[in-house]
Amino acid sequence: MAFTMERWYSATKERFAVRSYKGEPSQGELEALEEQAKALSGRGVRIALGYDKHAFSPIIMGMGRVKGTGVFAAFISEGADMRSLGYLGEAFVLECTALGFGTCWLGIYNKKRVKNAASLLDGETLTCITPIGISKESYTPRPRKPLSLLTGLSDDVLRELPEWQKLALNCGRRAPSAVNAQPWKYTVEGEQLRVSSTGSNYGYGLVDLGITMLHIELGAAHGGVAGEWSFENDDAVFTPMSYNN
Ligand SMILES: Cc1cc2nc3c(=O)[nH]c(=O)nc-3n(C[C@H](O)[C@H](O)[C@H](O)COP(=O)(O)O)c2cc1C
Repeated sequence: MAFTMERWYSATKERFAVRSYKGEPSQGELEALEEQAKALSGRGVRIALGYDKHAFSPIIMGMGRVKGTGVFAAFISEGADMRSLGYLGEAFVLECTALGFGTCWLGIYNKKRVKNAASLLDGETLTCITPIGISKESYTPRPRKPLSLLTGLSDDVLRELPEWQKLALNCGRRAPSAVNAQPWKYTVEGEQLRVSSTGSNYGYGLVDLGITMLHIELGAAHGGVAGEWSFENDDAVFTPMSYNN
C-alpha cells in the first residue's frame, strides 16, 4: 500500500487535464486498466471502462472537446457519497497517470452514449467520466490558489507547520476540480486537517472535495504520516494514526 501511495503521490505532480490524444491503450493495457477499475470500485462507486468515439462530443461553452481516443472510464454511483466517488475516481485517474496515460475529469459529455457504452444497471447513475489515451499535449500545470487563501494562514505560519502537513496541503492544492474552482477550505486544527467545501461548483463540489481528500492523504503519506478520515456534516477531517519519521 505504501508503494501505491508513493506511486500516486508522484502522479499528482504529472497529472494534468488532457483533451487531445494521439493514441488509445492497447488490448493488454485495457485489461490492466480493467483490473484497476475493478480494484478501485466500492462504497457504492463503480468504475466502468467503455469505448465510444462520440462519448465526448457535446460542445457546450467550449467544454467537452476531447479528441483522439474513444476509451473512457465512467464513474458510476449506486447511492454513493459523492466524496467517495471523487476519492476513488481520482485514485483511478492517478493510476492511469502512473501507467503513462492522459486523462481529464469530465462532467459534461454525451450522457446517452456513455450510458449505452457503459451498460448502466438499474439504480445506478452516471456522474463523471474521463477519457483515457496517449497524450498529444505536453505537461501544462494550471494555476492554483495560494495556500494562504485556501487556509487563511499567513506564509509565516504556513512555513512553521510540520513537514507532513505542508506536504499534505500542497498536494491537496494540486487536485483538479470542475472549472478549476478549487472550492475548498483547509483548516489546520492541531494535528488534524479539516477540509470543507466552499461551494456547490455546478453540482461537483463534493466530488471536488473527495478528490482533494485523496491528495491530502497522499501528501501526508509522503511525509510519513498515515491517517483516517471522519466526517462532520460535509466537512472531512484527517486525523494522523502514526508517524514514521
Ligand atoms: C468534477 C470535475 C468535472 C470536470 N468537468 C470538465 C468538463 O466537463 N470539461 C472539461 O473540459 N474539463 C472538465 N474538468 C477538468 C477541469 O477543468 C480541470 O481539472 C481543471 O481546470 C484543472 O486543470 P488540471 O486538471 O489540468 O490541473 C472537470 C474536473 C473535475 C474535477
